[in-house]
Amino acid sequence: MLKKMTTLGMTFCALVGMSLISTSAHAADDHKHGDHDHAHAHMPTEGVVILRSTKGNKVRGRLVLKQVKSGVRVTGRVNNLTPGEHGFHIHEFGDLRATDGKSAGGHFNPDGHDHGSPDAEHRHAGDLGNITADSEGVAKVDILQKGLKLHFVIGRSIVVHAGKDDLKSQPSGDAGPRVAVGVIGIAQMKKPAKK
Ligand code: CU
Ligand code: ZN
Repeated sequence: MLKKMTTLGMTFCALVGMSLISTSAHAADDHKHGDHDHAHAHMPTEGVVILRSTKGNKVRGRLVLKQVKSGVRVTGRVNNLTPGEHGFHIHEFGDLRATDGKSAGGHFNPDGHDHGSPDAEHRHAGDLGNITADSEGVAKVDILQKGLKLHFVIGRSIVVHAGKDDLKSQPSGDAGPRVAVGVIGIAQMKKPAKK
């Protein structure tokens, strides 16, 4: 009886072993043939931000973030600003619960660098520099942030400040209070119209 059970057990193990081998061989085969393109098909290539004002001001705006070869291109416009330069950054969190925008945290800085100019070799990844509002309070935005990958910033936020980022003060360029914040969401890609 004991001998028979052992034999059955061994047979069972051998069968399981075989099926494991064939499963992993199948997985490896899938990987070889399609995994690369499959992974890329699920990476977001366009993000969108609706900027809303923090408490006590009326700044609003709309931005699009596009993944390009060299980085992320940020375009759009921001309204109701005071004329002049305004600090403009990607902050760590997409958390807009605080009415003053502070729950967005500090500048997105995965590499542990100091704050700096967008052109600097070492800076926060989220240091987009400044946007400039005209006499009507409108800033047209077109910034190429080199080296940035869009998928690392989806779910984080963009913050516009009341003052100018001096591009050197630590930890955030002395740009003053936050006047608008918005979460970086995955954009719905426009499909060609049917018919
Ligand atoms: Cu900021
Ligand atoms: Zn910074």
